[in-house]
Amino acid sequence: MIAKILSFALDGIDGYPVTVETDIGGGLPAFDTVGLPDAAVKESRDRVKSAIKNSTLNFPQMKIVANLAPADTRKEGSLYDLPIAMAILTATGQVDAHATEGCVFIGELSLKGEIRRVNGVLPMVIAAASQGYKRIVLPAENAEEASYVEGIEIFAPATLIEVFRHFAGLAPMSPVPARRWSDVAAARENPAHDFADIRGQYAAKRAMEIAAAGGHNILMVGPPGSGKTMLARALPSILPDMTFAEALEVTKIHSIAGVLSGGIVTERPFRSPHHTASTVSLTGGGRRAEPGEISLANHGVLFLDELPEYQHSALEALRQPLEDGFITVTRVQNTVRYPARFMLVASMNPCPCGHYGDKNGQCRCTLQQIQRYLKKISGPLLDRIDIQIEVPAVEYGEMVGKDKSESSAVIRERVCRARERQLERYRGTGLYNNAQMDSTQIRRWCALCPGDEKMMEQIFRRMNLSARGYTRLLKVARTIADLAGEENIGTEHLLEAVQYRSVDKKYWS
Ligand SMILES: Nc1ncnc2c1ncn2[C@@H]1O[C@H](COP(=O)(O)OP(=O)(O)O)[C@@H](O)[C@H]1O
Ligand SMILES: [Mg+2]
Ligand SMILES: [Zn+2]
Repeated sequence: MIAKILSFALDGIDGYPVTVETDIGGGLPAFDTVGLPDAAVKESRDRVKSAIKNSTLNFPQMKIVANLAPADTRKEGSLYDLPIAMAILTATGQVDAHATEGCVFIGELSLKGEIRRVNGVLPMVIAAASQGYKRIVLPAENAEEASYVEGIEIFAPATLIEVFRHFAGLAPMSPVPARRWSDVAAARENPAHDFADIRGQYAAKRAMEIAAAGGHNILMVGPPGSGKTMLARALPSILPDMTFAEALEVTKIHSIAGVLSGGIVTERPFRSPHHTASTVSLTGGGRRAEPGEISLANHGVLFLDELPEYQHSALEALRQPLEDGFITVTRVQNTVRYPARFMLVASMNPCPCGHYGDKNGQCRCTLQQIQRYLKKISGPLLDRIDIQIEVPAVEYGEMVGKDKSESSAVIRERVCRARERQLERYRGTGLYNNAQMDSTQIRRWCALCPGDEKMMEQIFRRMNLSARGYTRLLKVARTIADLAGEENIGTEHLLEAVQYRSVDKKYWS
């Protein structure tokens, strides 16, 4: 007898349907799987057999062939245990075929018949719902991430026997209660890292605010202990809340990478991979073509602390995704594309010992050492960082002073208003922030008055700016004007933007 059960597979961050078909017939007892290239799926035969037996159900002593279609797509992992088991139970008449019609099954089985969590559940549930499927059975541990998807009934049992009883009409399961994004957003807690806790550093905080408002990448240069890491960690607290669509995309990626803890990701990601990270762990790839740090940081912040310490090849591999907002990962048979739209925040010391330029002149590095150190950051990478600032050590007076700093909530209000202006301006263009402008858009949105044009011509010459450096300056000036609520870029906006170019000039030319 033949039985068909529906399941799902993943292509990048999107799910697509897979059919598990079993044929049970005469011949010597055997259990074969077809269309399953991955070793993990072969192991699943042992788990399915034991799980059925240990659930006190009947495993037929017949010739069983389980076939997963389409055959040419990648199907890996253990999420087909449950659909294969259900197909066997249906083909042997233990479950009525009508009962499982149109229902999707995903889940790994333990030998005892428990249903174990699998990666990538959310994208598969989203795909199933959008393709009109009405019911899905998935592991209890994946229930929370799935519960935000509308339009599909979700069942999240702990064991195979529960699934059997439900579809055999013996004991119905209740669907998982739906959760709403608005409730989650309302219950959001105060940020763990607040700008109010950072003493002094007004210039650095201002630069962070501008970076957040325009989506600009930022590099901080300063001695150890000046608060660079602290500033970077506080950045997510002044970014606007994620929309539901953004949260779903982030959760999908975290789900695929298996780093999801609990349900939906509600806070913008903050990823800080160590400088020993390999190129693959940063950009994604490997045997399973998993998302890397740049994709885990999607819609959030990628913080690279001590930038020159990273492998040169790893840093160079960031250039393309910084430009495109996505990364293409190649695997044996095909390629997958993962989103990678993040704000890059980088920090570094000005020299190997960290004290070059200090007032008290402690630096012991030779000029060559300093140059070799700075040269690790390539020109093309620097070109993608719109804002560069120096973060000097905090003065003692500022450290012990009583003055209250602005909280992240107050700064975030201004950032949100500046972002709204950008969304309005770029409506229908596919852009949503100033950092994304290309040269045509810069000409359109960053027009200067004749007086300012003259002034910029002089600055351009005096600072020996490159054309690229000049366009970055204009983008940042646009954001400063947006923060000020101004339609046009004015002289004071330009002069402030010039400051964020001076570090680059001081150290790299
Ligand atoms: N501006 C500041 N306000 C309050 N604490 C600070 C400040 N700067 C540094 N610190 C303290 O010094 C420690 C080291 O700062 P950190 O951000 O790690 O510096 P860096 O990354 O520049 O080496 C922090 O944990 C914090 O306690
Ligand atoms: Mg640090
Ligand atoms: Zn030094």
